[in-house]
Amino acid sequence: AMSSSLVCVQDYEEQATKILPRNALDYYRSGATREITLQENKDAIKRWYIRPRFLRDVSKRSMQTTVLGHTVNVPFGVAPTAMQRMATPDGESANARAAGKIGTVFTLSTIATTSIEEIASEAPDTLRFFQLYIYKDRAVTASLVKRAEAAGFSALVLTVDAPHFGIRLADLRNKFTLPPHLGMANFQTGDEKSNRVNTSAGGSGINEYVKSLFDPSLTWDDVAWLKRLTHLPIVLKGILTAEDALLGLKAGATGIWVSNHGARQVDGVPPSIEALSEIIKAVDGRCEVYVDGGFSEGTDIFKALALGARMVFLGRPLLWGLACGGEEGALNILNILKGELDSTMALSGCASINDITKDMVIRKDHYSR
Ligand code: FNR
Repeated sequence: AMSSSLVCVQDYEEQATKILPRNALDYYRSGATREITLQENKDAIKRWYIRPRFLRDVSKRSMQTTVLGHTVNVPFGVAPTAMQRMATPDGESANARAAGKIGTVFTLSTIATTSIEEIASEAPDTLRFFQLYIYKDRAVTASLVKRAEAAGFSALVLTVDAPHFGIRLADLRNKFTLPPHLGMANFQTGDEKSNRVNTSAGGSGINEYVKSLFDPSLTWDDVAWLKRLTHLPIVLKGILTAEDALLGLKAGATGIWVSNHGARQVDGVPPSIEALSEIIKAVDGRCEVYVDGGFSEGTDIFKALALGARMVFLGRPLLWGLACGGEEGALNILNILKGELDSTMALSGCASINDITKDMVIRKDHYSR
């Protein structure tokens, strides 16, 4: 059983920092170069204040909502993060089962250490999205899409912000590579090269992997290609501007996932919660909009919902949960966030998600004018 002294996401992060091997901890924790955006993702959320309303009968509360037409019990879900078996032996399976237990969506990364089919059999009742990276080898890519469809995944999340991987200094210093007993599980039978992350003389093994296999030539035409290939709804992940959100709508995206990839791609982009507002405005209700990046408390999630996000996704918090206690740890993280969001709703006069309206938040600088 896990230590009951871990009562918030930050407690888990501190504990995970103590117990994870250096190579894995640094890979999970890092942002790009100076890590300004890594800090600003969090700081920007704190710049928003909640305007609580009172005497509004909060005796019966629900956090239920829908994502792409699927009912979820909480308005937050699990973002795709690569290589979760570095945190706990059953990695992605543990995470997906935890998401299912709480009744929300789990997103599997293309570069996971557990395969599409394993996730389907380990977490059959969990709502599952598949995050897609497009490989130069389009047959490999098409096969991933077909396997996700066959395995009952409900959406494709196309990550648009990764023509190559950002410069993460700790991974360069560590010459990051996957521990030898782990591989990219979605490629076990196909091209051997896509299964392994090799040590790189020059720097990070994962950056070398991406450079040799991912397609950096992608354009909006490739979104159209993907749309022709699949009947699944397509969510575009990594959008940071109104311009790209509108191009995404035009290309037929069913969802826009506002994200700076956990500050891991280019340092100095806007914090996710700030980009969210311009995208909500541009999209104007024509598709669902999600957000991730730096969310670690119920109050954080509340603010993004007030600003118009349909769902908030979490990456690192689940990795800290997995590191501290496998499936139980991941479930604890989700339950902590659920409890905190419920408390925030009760204390600010919201009995349902629809009650969390734009006027319930205000930016800090309003008060210094
Ligand atoms: C990621 N992220 C990511 N995104 C993606 O589309 N495919 C992937 O394989 C990964 N892998 C990955 C690994 C690790 C260790 C991290 C921290 C992040 C980005 C992820 O989906 C999400 O955008 C961020 O993690 C959200 O920020 P927080 O919640 O970690 O602050």
